[in-house]
Amino acid sequence: MIHGIVPRDVVTVTDADLPMSDADVEAALYPAEAELIAKAVATRRADFAWARACAREAMTRLGVPAGPVVRGGRGMPVWPPGVVGTLTHTNGLRAAALGSADRVRSVGLDVEPHAPLADGVLGVVSLPEEAEWVRAVGAEMPSVHWDTLLFTAKEATYKAWYPLTRRWLGFEDAHITLVPDRDDDKGDDDTVVTGVLRSRILVDPSAADGGPDLVELVGRWVVRDGFVASAIVLRPAGVDTVES
Ligand SMILES: CC(C)(COP(=O)(O)OP(=O)(O)OC[C@H]1O[C@@H](n2cnc3c(N)ncnc32)[C@H](O)[C@@H]1OP(=O)(O)O)[C@@H](O)C(=O)NCCC(=O)NCCS
Repeated sequence: MIHGIVPRDVVTVTDADLPMSDADVEAALYPAEAELIAKAVATRRADFAWARACAREAMTRLGVPAGPVVRGGRGMPVWPPGVVGTLTHTNGLRAAALGSADRVRSVGLDVEPHAPLADGVLGVVSLPEEAEWVRAVGAEMPSVHWDTLLFTAKEATYKAWYPLTRRWLGFEDAHITLVPDRDDDKGDDDTVVTGVLRSRILVDPSAADGGPDLVELVGRWVVRDGFVASAIVLRPAGVDTVES
């Protein structure tokens, strides 16, 4: 489901692509990775290890030597030289999306089950105008849980933002716009729905990597197979994006 929302030079791998067991993926961790989760509970160890198995496979498919993915400041993934990527894990799906550093500046991917947010959460993770829009579009297109889609767009924003700025970004610090692609059948729960997301940054947008300010982050989203996913891919100056 995820490969359709990233450009084709970004490699995505999900746990469903890998013929491995929980024991296999844990055994395959690099020592520097295993050390980070030695004291974690089994579910966390499995999510961490599956996401890294996906990342390793993505590195191989990208044609770069695979290496460990450790955790840097505020939990951001630290990639082997030459690679830029993002990880996500949720109930039933773990995934990695990676590109080569000469073509990709930053990536943010977030996946959640396609279900409504728990009561009260929308108010915490949205601006008042976003919450109002979610209620209005929900009346128009009730097959999509727009609240959860908005949430994934916010988290994808943070995952793309943080490695470039090393600054916190709160849920109130970006305004998200979600526009469905026009060709989708909007009436059927089982139908794939896709669209564009725009994340307008409402705080200091300066980047710490020497690249352009992060005034607006643009990405894509999909609702499919019981999941909702948002992805943002930022390019270095002078590198054009390519189609999915
Ligand atoms: C960091 C955060 C986005 C992770 O999202 P999540 O739904 O809890 O978890 P996911 O499974 O999708 O993603 C986990 C992965 O996120 C990545 N991640 C964690 N912190 C990160 C950071 N500061 N920058 C980039 N990526 C980060 C890691 O790769 C992590 O995987 P790992 O723990 O196996 O290394 C979330 O916990 C968070 O702190 N959100 C608040 C900030 C925010 O979303 N602001 C909205 C701005 S509009």
